[in-house]
Amino acid sequence: MTDLPPEDPAPAFRLFWDNSSLTPARALRLAEAISMDAMQAAPPPRPLYGTAAQRLPAPDSPLTALWRERHSERRFGATPLTAAGLGNLLSPLASRAAITPGERGRLLPSGGAKYPVLTYAAVLNVADAPALQGKLAWYDPEHHGLVPLGALPPWQALAASLGVDWAGPPALVLFFVVQAQGTLAKYGERGGRFVLIETGTALAAVTLEATRQGLAGVPVASFEDGALLALCGLAPATHGLALAAAFGPAPG
Ligand SMILES: Cc1cc2nc3c(=O)[nH]c(=O)nc-3n(C[C@H](O)[C@H](O)[C@H](O)COP(=O)(O)O)c2cc1C
Repeated sequence: MTDLPPEDPAPAFRLFWDNSSLTPARALRLAEAISMDAMQAAPPPRPLYGTAAQRLPAPDSPLTALWRERHSERRFGATPLTAAGLGNLLSPLASRAAITPGERGRLLPSGGAKYPVLTYAAVLNVADAPALQGKLAWYDPEHHGLVPLGALPPWQALAASLGVDWAGPPALVLFFVVQAQGTLAKYGERGGRFVLIETGTALAAVTLEATRQGLAGVPVASFEDGALLALCGLAPATHGLALAAAFGPAPG
């Protein structure tokens, strides 16, 4: 009897993922599409309801004040990120037990508690962390720590793989990688939505903390999938890079 490969629980999601992965050739076509869009920018969608909305009380939440400070910044200062700042930045991704021993689950929600989002970090300019400096590292949520995996390529090479042309490097680039098998096995095609939603949740959480620290930062989606996945030592058959995000001290 021949062993059949296990049935893919979400073939359409796999196809979508492969079709939306960037290669250098696809990145060129995407850059053209982005330029076209800039010439004919449309306003964001707005349903055609009446405009006499019931106004809500002006927000007085401290979180609103923080969100007001948020904006995408692609220039970074040369001051290193502190190890304490790095710890706080990644803390929303931690397991509860890493913060309070004995507690279960994680600070962020996950469909079916499958936690498909893995976070890798390119540590480019962090003080007081010699074992991590210049390294690619995996964030271990159970221990709230970074596991150094190997040396990073020079910033110019990393920037090319990210598809960015910034004047200088950020202190840190996060890679949100999805290992979706558990979510897809449980939820089938619908689970594909979950892993992307959970990536966005992780981005929002670290962005809010970065803003609280006064850091500059920006999400990055223009990356070459294969190159950065290979940098993380991961295979496209089992893992996908969903989104990257750069953070660092604000320019002086
Ligand atoms: C999913 C996502 C992908 C993005 N990808 C990139 C990117 O590849 N490069 C970039 O410079 N900015 C990127 N951005 C930042 C947007 O350009 C930015 O959020 C938008 O222009 C609004 O500006 P603001 O963030 O300052 O409010 C991305 C944002 C999101 C949410």
